This record gives sequence, structure tokens and C-alpha cells, in this order.
Amino acid sequence: MKKLVALCAALGFLCMMALGHNPAIAAEKPIVVKIAGYKPEGEPETVGMHQFGKYLAELSNGKYEVQVFPNSQLGKEDSYIDQTRRGIIQMCATGTQMSKFHPAMAMLETPMLFDDLDHAHRAMNGKTFELITDGFDKKSGIHTLNAFPLGYRHFYTKKPINTVEDMKGIKMRVPNIPLYTNFAKEAGISGQPMPYAEVAGALDQGVIDGGESPMSDIMAVKMYEIAPYITKTKHMLVMHSLFINDKFYQSLPEQDKKWFNEAAQKAAEDVWQMVKENDSKAEEAIAAGGGKLSEPGPELKKFIRDAGERTWTMFTDPKSSSYVPNAKEILDSAASYREAK
Ligand code: G3P
Repeated sequence: MKKLVALCAALGFLCMMALGHNPAIAAEKPIVVKIAGYKPEGEPETVGMHQFGKYLAELSNGKYEVQVFPNSQLGKEDSYIDQTRRGIIQMCATGTQMSKFHPAMAMLETPMLFDDLDHAHRAMNGKTFELITDGFDKKSGIHTLNAFPLGYRHFYTKKPINTVEDMKGIKMRVPNIPLYTNFAKEAGISGQPMPYAEVAGALDQGVIDGGESPMSDIMAVKMYEIAPYITKTKHMLVMHSLFINDKFYQSLPEQDKKWFNEAAQKAAEDVWQMVKENDSKAEEAIAAGGGKLSEPGPELKKFIRDAGERTWTMFTDPKSSSYVPNAKEILDSAASYREAK
């Protein structure tokens, strides 16, 4: 009997070797983590993914290798979010698309919520972020590791927008997210919902007359070549995150989980820094490329601010399909991070 057990053990060992399960070899082979995003190289979202990979490799001493797939290489947002949920890939980067699982996620980009980037930064590193993401994992099967900005959104249009009247009838692309379609409605814009990856083609073909995006997008996609009038409305601050399949995340050893958290936090801090420094550089590049940047006048500014604030009711009204039960707590929390004057 003893001989039989020894024989089985030896055979089992040989089989494991043949199948590549030698623990010594496995320890040397990095564990691949795939992360998908939709912005091009050089943009804050993609920089965030690369920085995360760099930090995770450093912290884990090479145990993990992050493979980054930006620019919708693994499909548009909806597709790669689904792949992350199902564990086909481990991670992704996106923003308020995630509000389809948990409406509170759209509050990451509540219009007119923050005075400036520093205010938003404090709130995202604090309780406001926790209140917004609370309950998201359970509904989506995905865990949120961080939050970082892509910049304020501004209008880009084929004709100048100086007054509220000028906005009427302009076909502007908006992301296909209730927060954005709602804002368009409140602002009296003819919003054309479509994924980001379709914007360049829609502009080329004249399907839209413009849109609204952060400076980094306007520069990267060269929207100003077709829609050169950039009105600096600053109506929303875009907030993206690195997301991870929750089952995968929960299966990590405690130490490894800490590495993932720390790498994500460090990557987010790099992006905050980058965005704080880069908007003015983007504006210079856009102007050099023929873009015509302008500040909205007081009347237009007030109109945009009021429209932005009216969108808050989609979160606070119990009858709204995007109702967020703890919306007031979230709004109060965000306000508490305002700098004392
Ligand atoms: O957070 C969502 C927001 O980034 C969507 O905007 O223009 O990148 O599709 P866009």
C-alpha cells in the first residue's frame, strides 16, 4: 500500500511538472492583470493605468504584470465593463458609465459641485468618495480602487456660442449616460448620445455640430479642427476610476490587496498632479492648432451653472429613476471639503 501511495505521489509530481505547475517556476512567472480603457495614449485615464502597472510591479517585486489596453482596444466602454464583470479581464478604467449599476456613481461628476480641483481632490480622497461608492461592489461585481480627474468639460462647436440663444438647435454629442442627457435637457441643448469612440467619425460626417469634453480630449482628438469654437463652460469635472473584478480582488492575499490599493492610490495622485498642471498646456496646443478659446459671458455662465444645479434633482427626487437615497449626505459631505474662507 505504502509503495502504491509513493508511486501515485511521484506520478502526480511528474504530471504537475509537465503541466507547468512547478511552484518554483510559477513563483517566477508574473501574474498577468489585464486592464482596458477607452482614452488614447497620453490622456489622464491611460496615464493612470500605466502608472498603476508600474507601481504594482514595483510594490509586488514583479509578482504582477499589468497589461494596459487603452483606446477601446478591447471594445467600447460597455463591452469592456462587461468583460471586467465576468472576469474575462481583471480591470478597467472608466467613469460615470458605472452609474447604470449604481446611480450614485454619477455623483462623482455632479455638475457645479466643487469650487476647484483641490476641493474635488480632498473630497475624492475622503468621505464623499466612500459615500458615493458604498454599495456599488454588490450591485456590479466590481470594486472601485480610486478616483482621479480628466479635467473640466467645455463646449466645442462649429459656430461661436456667446449667448444662451446661440446654443439652440446645435447638435452636440453627449455621453450616453443619464447625467449627461439630463444636463443637455436642462441646458436646452440638442444632445446626441453616443460613445466617445464614435465622436471623431460623427464630427467628420457632420452628424454632430460639436460636443463637450475636457481639454485633454479636445486636444487628443483634435475636435477643434472641425468645431473650432471652444467655450470654456467648465460645467462638469470628469472623474474616472480604476475598477477591478470584485471576485478577483477578494481572492487576493491580504498583502497583495494592499499593493493593489497602494498602486491605485499612487497612480491617482500622479493623475491629479498631471491634470492640475496640464489644462493650460492643452489650451496653448489647441490655440496653436486653430482653436478659438473664449470665456462665457456672465449671463451664459449663470445659465450653465443653473442648468448644472438643476440636474441635482435627478439624484434627490425619490421619483427619479436615478434617485440616490444618500444624495443629501453626499452633497453635504462634498460641501464640507470646501476651503474655509
Ligand atoms: O465619466 C464619464 C465621462 O468621462 C464620459 O465622457 O466624453 O469620455 O464619453 P466621455
